Amino acid sequence: MTYQRLGVNIDHVATVRNARGGNVPDPVRAAKLAEKAGADGITAHLREDRRHIGDADIERLMDALAVPLNFEMAATEEMQAIALRHKPHAVCIVPEKREERTTEGGLEVAREENRLAHYIAPLREAGCRVSIFIAADKRQIDAAHRIGAQVIELHTGAYCDAHVEGDVETRDKELEAMREMASYAHGLGLEVHAGHGLSFDTVKPIAALPEIKELNIGHFLIGEAIFSGLEGAIVEMRRLMDEARA
Ligand code: PXP
Repeated sequence: MTYQRLGVNIDHVATVRNARGGNVPDPVRAAKLAEKAGADGITAHLREDRRHIGDADIERLMDALAVPLNFEMAATEEMQAIALRHKPHAVCIVPEKREERTTEGGLEVAREENRLAHYIAPLREAGCRVSIFIAADKRQIDAAHRIGAQVIELHTGAYCDAHVEGDVETRDKELEAMREMASYAHGLGLEVHAGHGLSFDTVKPIAALPEIKELNIGHFLIGEAIFSGLEGAIVEMRRLMDEARA
């Protein structure tokens, strides 16, 4: 099976930093360590409220990284201007609600097709690879394809939640939807990524789906780093991904 990239999301290093103000722990230092541990890319989400990653972090990441930056953002004018200024390797458009704790669902592309088509066009022209974060739903995949996105990222949150709750039936149903929709999207010529909520316990069935070229994982790795160090956590995640695809 082809190699699957691992994008490490460093948002929650910034969450811990911001809990106290000041500048430690530094998400850029974490990103460099992640690179050294084998991350194929770094993902950072600049939220409207700047609750974790800040504007200066993005600037420093752009300067410091040897691997590509995947810039996650909501489809707002402010974020588009920031992305066009930095021209990161990739942008991933995610839904954002101010009151949510994390990105709770996929983007409603089908409902906003026209606006999103116009929104992503300049990003593509600037050379950014555009990804859309969506549920494993044919309607959303078709819409993402029509608006000209090169990549879709499938939201694995429902699958992971069902696993944690011990709801095997829902977990297996979600996994089946991932399998079918990854294959469907690949057939349309879209590159397929996945992420949200993945852990050592949930990563392998998703990593084993042949069409999925990249996983983006953050919260679990940053939490696990408390116990085994960031490098150790990333190396183990990489090992599990490789094992799943062997
Ligand atoms: N992919 C996308 C599009 C996300 O928004 C997030 C969370 O910011 C992730 C992956 C990573 O999720 P987690 O931090 O739960 O691993």
